[in-house]
Amino acid sequence: MFVGFPTWGMKLPPPMKSFLKQYDLRGKTVIPFNTNAGYGVGSSFETVKELCANSKVLEGFTMKGGIERDGVYLVIKDEKAKEAEVKVKQWLQKIKIIK
Ligand SMILES: Cc1cc2nc3c(=O)[nH]c(=O)nc-3n(C[C@H](O)[C@H](O)[C@H](O)COP(=O)(O)O)c2cc1C
Repeated sequence: MFVGFPTWGMKLPPPMKSFLKQYDLRGKTVIPFNTNAGYGVGSSFETVKELCANSKVLEGFTMKGGIERDGVYLVIKDEKAKEAEVKVKQWLQKIKIIK
């Protein structure tokens, strides 16, 4: 299961924490991915691991997205979309989801 979320306050957003606590993902493979405003994933990937202790949590992917605070939205387009495609593909190959 792919689980995507933004970084909020250098943490996993509370709605995502509730979501992961609510569902029994025992035995499932959890694959986290993230966008942020340039400060990285913070503790979010670690928290996913903690909340999915009985799941196999694979290496996550992150990239800089929009900057909501500054009204910068939907930035993954044009050149950035091409960059994202290449990076996502490399990541999916690394974690052996695609060849
Ligand atoms: C409440 C809130 C807190 C945020 N905290 C952070 C943060 O700690 N670090 C960071 O890099 N970005 C932070 N952001 C920015 C979002 O992570 C960023 O705008 C979002 O990932 C962009 O995703 P999108 O391009 O898919 O819309 C925050 C945004 C909100 C609304």
